[in-house]
Amino acid sequence: MFWKTISLYHIFLIFGTSSGLAMDVRIDLQQPVAEKGPKFVGITVDTRYLVYGQMSALDLSSPKLHTLARALSPSYVRVGGTDADDMVFNATMNGWFNHTVGPSVLEKMWRLSQLAGWDLIFDLNVVVRKNGYWDPSNTREILKFFSQQGYVVDCFQLGNEPNVFEMKYNLTVSAQALAHDYLTLKSVLQEFPLYRNSCILGPEVTRITQTKTREYFIEFLKSGGAQALTAVGVHHYFCPGDPAVNLGFFTNGTLMDSLKEELDYLVSISRQYVPQLPVWLSETGTTFGSCPGTPDLDLTYINGFLWLDKLGLTSQSAVQHVNRQGFFSDLLDDNLDPRPEYYLTLLYKRLVQGAVFRVPTTTRNVRMYASCTNPDSYSKGALTVYVINIETIDVTLTLSEFKEQQLDLYMLTSGDPEDISSRSVALNGDELKMTGSELPPMPSRIVTGNSFTMAAKTFGFVVIPNANVPACRR
Ligand SMILES: *[C@@H]1O[C@H](CO)[C@@H](O)[C@H](O)[C@H]1NC(C)=O
Ligand SMILES: *[C@@H]1O[C@H](CO)[C@@H](O)[C@H](O)[C@H]1NC(C)=O
Ligand SMILES: *[C@@H]1O[C@H](CO)[C@@H](O)[C@H](O)[C@H]1NC(C)=O
Ligand SMILES: *[C@@H]1O[C@H](CO)[C@@H](O)[C@H](O)[C@H]1NC(C)=O
Repeated sequence: MFWKTISLYHIFLIFGTSSGLAMDVRIDLQQPVAEKGPKFVGITVDTRYLVYGQMSALDLSSPKLHTLARALSPSYVRVGGTDADDMVFNATMNGWFNHTVGPSVLEKMWRLSQLAGWDLIFDLNVVVRKNGYWDPSNTREILKFFSQQGYVVDCFQLGNEPNVFEMKYNLTVSAQALAHDYLTLKSVLQEFPLYRNSCILGPEVTRITQTKTREYFIEFLKSGGAQALTAVGVHHYFCPGDPAVNLGFFTNGTLMDSLKEELDYLVSISRQYVPQLPVWLSETGTTFGSCPGTPDLDLTYINGFLWLDKLGLTSQSAVQHVNRQGFFSDLLDDNLDPRPEYYLTLLYKRLVQGAVFRVPTTTRNVRMYASCTNPDSYSKGALTVYVINIETIDVTLTLSEFKEQQLDLYMLTSGDPEDISSRSVALNGDELKMTGSELPPMPSRIVTGNSFTMAAKTFGFVVIPNANVPACRR
């Protein structure tokens, strides 16, 4: 039926009698496919931020920082990344030097998580090794310090992307050795009453669509990793190995769909070997800074297509948490001004939470997702639909299950209508900008009826406050 609409539309287009596509949004409201809690979307702080002095220089009394950090709460914050495997702790050092950090740096990270209301996940250095295995002595120092200070740490991790160590360090940590190391971590945590029940998240491998990575992941679980872990975490980016990064990269439906394969592997391997454990995308984003092609496009409006779609696809899977890389490097600029994706992430957290529904009318280029609305923002029963329109034309969407309804539109467009890779973003036409330390008001545009229009190459949310969806009333 939909294809008929498309072909009719194309005929209209040829004759120039229509300026957009018309589509139906049908939502399978009877049978939620998943359920996501308030901490579904978390964030990360890259360890890079700790070992090169930025954390030491950060002004924790900044009201702007408080506003920006707290607005993303509740969340997990995963402190980790490549530099976690270079970081050494020195309990008597003042500040930081050359990848060595003293207590003040860790204290500051802790205080940031507290003022923000974030639950801490801390990634430990697995590259300090002795006789082929991890040497936990420096980790014991860290745990001693944390524990003396009474810092609650929700989860620990060991290393970052160990399956690509060869590339980074000319070092191979086999899956068996890593499993052994994780079991060591589990027993080290038993020495500290405060961390006996902390979760252990791993193995933090990346590129699970590659056979080698899957073999590594499975071998790790079979060799003892399954006994050490309390949650499974892997990483995902759309690069490298994908076509060079250009504008088309960010609005490529085939590329977006490739995440499904990734999620299928992650979930099916976890179900087979550790069926009882929650599954995380413990560090993820869209592209790496090191992707080939145009630099810094990933810090602009255009990156939102890949990010929002990733949230949509992941929300439909069994993955329980997605930690967005990274609070300082990607969501905020050097002046702590929010980039477009900060606002997108914020809106997502404000508007989306709870049961997730399948949208059978979704297509490769008009990508539709539906979920209950966050009950902190709307009354129970409300429904949020979000759409990523990567068509080159406007699309008018009709919610045929709903008749005369109030629709609250939150349409995000590029801050510069002429430039899809603008560094600013507009909500319902108004550029989003902080005033001093205050976030801008982010009001909806209210319309009545059951249809709304998405401009070509834009994305946005629609809340139906009075949808009265049974699965959203609970
Ligand atoms: C730790 O830092 C102190 C003070 O900077 C220094 O004297 C000491 O050598 C360091 N310890 C190690 C093991 O590097
Ligand atoms: C910094 O650390 C590296 C090893 O991580 C070492 O090779 C280098 O000599 C150190 N530089 C200084 C100035 O201490
Ligand atoms: C990598 O390590 C091996 C042995 O551990 C050494 O022979 C080789 O030279 C190293 N390669 C580089 C590029 O450092
Ligand atoms: C879209 O992505 C797919 C998968 O990565 C790739 O094969 C294809 O060439 C891309 N298309 C364009 C137009 O870049």
